[in-house]
Amino acid sequence: MVILKLPDEIEKARASNRIVAEVLSKLREKVKPGVKTKDLDKFAEEIALKRGAKPAFKGYHGYPYSLCISVNEVVVHGMPSDRILEEGDIVGLDFGVYYQGYFGDATITLPLGKVSEKALKLIRVTEQSLYAGIEQAVDGNRLGDISAAVQSTVEDAGYSVVRDFVGHGIGKNLHEDPQIPNFGKKGRGIELKKGMILAIEPMVNAGKYRVKILPDGWTVITEDGSLSAHFEHSIAITDNGPDILSKLN
Ligand code: MF3
Ligand code: CO
Repeated sequence: MVILKLPDEIEKARASNRIVAEVLSKLREKVKPGVKTKDLDKFAEEIALKRGAKPAFKGYHGYPYSLCISVNEVVVHGMPSDRILEEGDIVGLDFGVYYQGYFGDATITLPLGKVSEKALKLIRVTEQSLYAGIEQAVDGNRLGDISAAVQSTVEDAGYSVVRDFVGHGIGKNLHEDPQIPNFGKKGRGIELKKGMILAIEPMVNAGKYRVKILPDGWTVITEDGSLSAHFEHSIAITDNGPDILSKLN
């Protein structure tokens, strides 16, 4: 069941997403070669707590950290560790909080220092596909319009969209209906309505779309070892079209 939000609820979700965006923009400054991924997790958690927000992922289905850090061939749900980030890495940072009754959730992927032209293009196309999807998040459109816009942006560039993980509705729960696949057909699926809040999150592989989960039960990597990038925004559907609640400053 899709839960529609009233304008005052959207404002609460905006407050939550504003904290997520603040954390991601501060992380953007901190992510450099030589940094330990565990320290980024601690840093993100501390900012959230200081703002009176609860990290949304910690304890969610037993996930042990506040931040997901997905490096290179890691698609999503990479766990902070003693790993030291290196020049040339591409680093996905996925963060969420719970604040005053509502969840916020967003992801960015950053290049570290000098990275290959290939990796930069993957990052660029993945972010473009997110915005192509967001553009379709309009009252009266169909869910498949978002999915198809993401998919065609990605595939036209020669990349593939991950099938096994999807975007989601978000609100009083981190994951609500509808599920939002990053592949699909224009004109299909449920009708989009004003008051929906959607976390749209394309996960894009440079190679084939297949992924596998490592024995730690969390880390998702590309099956063929190719690079992967991930971007996510939480957006509200309003009378004036899509409103990006997690916009970074
Ligand atoms: N942004 C991811 C999602 O929406 C983060 C979930 S990680 C988890 O599913 F640890 F919380 F599962
Ligand atoms: Co999400």
